[in-house]
Amino acid sequence: MTISDQDKSYIKRYLTGVIDTPQAQSMKTFIQHGHISTYTHVLNVVCMSCKVDERLHAHSDKPSLIRGAFLHDFYLYDWHDPTSNEGLHGFKHPARALAKAQEMFTLNPTEQNIIISHMWPLTITHIPKCREAVIVCLSDKLCALYETVLKDKCLFDIDL
Ligand SMILES: [Fe+2]
Ligand SMILES: [Fe+2]
Repeated sequence: MTISDQDKSYIKRYLTGVIDTPQAQSMKTFIQHGHISTYTHVLNVVCMSCKVDERLHAHSDKPSLIRGAFLHDFYLYDWHDPTSNEGLHGFKHPARALAKAQEMFTLNPTEQNIIISHMWPLTITHIPKCREAVIVCLSDKLCALYETVLKDKCLFDIDL
């Protein structure tokens, strides 16, 4: 899939200072689905979120959408390793991702809501409360589908 040159430049600009940290780079070592790293997955979700925003003419707050999408799975462990997490990964990882992200970055309420609600409706009490969170919640599920069913690794033509 392709994304616009404008979205590519937004992604590069708004992820500066985030994507280049050792913690973000460590997501390359954690497996998300099958053969896809968490790093590749979150970049897929960033690009898909930009695409969905464009298609829906949602006019999201782009910096928040991009940063929230990139950090939505910032839990920083391999969830397949039973010794590396407390179990119930699906339910617990949004809160862990938010806590880890807040240790390093100052997040606005939109970014916080994107991360904590991205597994909704599984995490029933953490509801997407803004358009950006709805878009990331939807895009995460779309990417998981492409990544697991179609075994498509890098869904978008962006090099980061
Ligand atoms: Fe997640
Ligand atoms: Fe995800």
